[in-house]
Amino acid sequence: MCDLEKLVIRGGKPLIGEIEISGAKNAAVAILPATLLAKGEFIIDNLPNISDIDATLDILRHLGAEITRLGKHTVRINTMGVTNKPIPEFLACKLRASYYFLGALLGRFGSARVAMPGGCNFGGVRPIDLHIKGFNALGATVGTDGEYVVAQTTASTLMGNTVFLDKPSVGATINVILAAVGAKGITVIENAAKEPHIVDIANFLNRMGAEVRCAGTERITIIGGLPMKGCEHIIIPDQIETGTYMTLAAATRGQLTLKNITSPHLDKITAKLRECGATVIPEEVDSSEQITVSASGRLKCCDIKAEAHPGFPTDMQPQFTALLSICEGTSMVTDSVWDNRFKYTDQLTKMGAQIKVSGNTACIQGTNELTGASVFANDLRAGAALIIAALAAKGTTTIGNISYIDRGYEDIVEKLSAVGADIQRVEFPDVPPVSNIQKVE
Ligand code: UD1
Repeated sequence: MCDLEKLVIRGGKPLIGEIEISGAKNAAVAILPATLLAKGEFIIDNLPNISDIDATLDILRHLGAEITRLGKHTVRINTMGVTNKPIPEFLACKLRASYYFLGALLGRFGSARVAMPGGCNFGGVRPIDLHIKGFNALGATVGTDGEYVVAQTTASTLMGNTVFLDKPSVGATINVILAAVGAKGITVIENAAKEPHIVDIANFLNRMGAEVRCAGTERITIIGGLPMKGCEHIIIPDQIETGTYMTLAAATRGQLTLKNITSPHLDKITAKLRECGATVIPEEVDSSEQITVSASGRLKCCDIKAEAHPGFPTDMQPQFTALLSICEGTSMVTDSVWDNRFKYTDQLTKMGAQIKVSGNTACIQGTNELTGASVFANDLRAGAALIIAALAAKGTTTIGNISYIDRGYEDIVEKLSAVGADIQRVEFPDVPPVSNIQKVE
């Protein structure tokens, strides 16, 4: 990937102020495909204004949904004219979560053709075998045809069944729920993932008329085949965006108040920040939740083990590693969800971090101070980690590949500038204007 823009950050200042948290990306990218399960009109609110959502809405439009923006964070979706069309690579490759169209189309029409999903590759493989195993259990065959993953019911309709997931996969849990809502009979998902956005998607589907029970536990039951209709829904706050700014407040030794949050989703992040010596205060103000994180002086090391929910989220592992690289002492960070999610640490090393990676564990020897450097994001949360490191570092950092960051963080430059960050989005000076770039046939 080669972006025409980069971030230029002059670090070393404590960030102080308030940030409004956006809706959860990982809930939104599943809720939008779920609208396909009914013919009707939907109002989706608190939708994050990020490129992954634009890409998801483009796929819905391609399938015939009418989409009207009612505001920056609100869309109306009318699915009356939707038909079952293949989703080609140029649309599916823009985000990982395009795989949710497999489950949604299978649930609605009994078949789906979706090009292989794109999105972040942390440096290893991101398999979808558990999604396929789940679809198989409901009576669908799944194969490939060129660029497409093709799922097809063998009988006249999908049939409910028990699906045991070998790992509590977020994607497989949601995809099986989406398909099972359209199946005849009862589906039970054993060893289901329990992440907060799974509960949000279940609440959305239940509002549509489905019956998805016990989402948020390891055994989810879905009563399939119920009549479904359009509905209104407000997406939950983004746990990872909140956690990123919490970590940033600690790393810059500042004080940030994050508004529109759900504090129980932040328990593990709060516990680890407190262990490092930061102050974390969740509060309810005018019946809305907010959390304030502050730190003064150098924080202490701590060990982290990223696990499936309710463990410490793997999507916060890179940001915490950035923080721990300037804490006093030696921290061990293990990621037990992804095998190879430490590729970004070579970029932190360029800034002076002392990190040794062995398998899925990083050993971080805290250093007094990071220094600015020219670095590249190799995925979304790696990009967030580099922003934290850059804002805490002495000197100027430039971050390339920022389209990864735009996939998941709404208005990040504006939000950070408003709390005192010196951060700018600039075009590469050495890139010619688009009209001068020669076309390669
Ligand atoms: C989702 C999140 C991602 C997060 C991850 C874990 C979205 C769009 N993305 O990704 O940000 O890092 O959850 O919290 O919500 N696995 C298999 N076979 C499968 C599926 C997964 O072996 O068919 C393995 C993966 O390799 C990984 C683990 O299960 O080791 C967890 O993956 P999963 O929860 O499925 O991640 P995603 O849903 O892709």
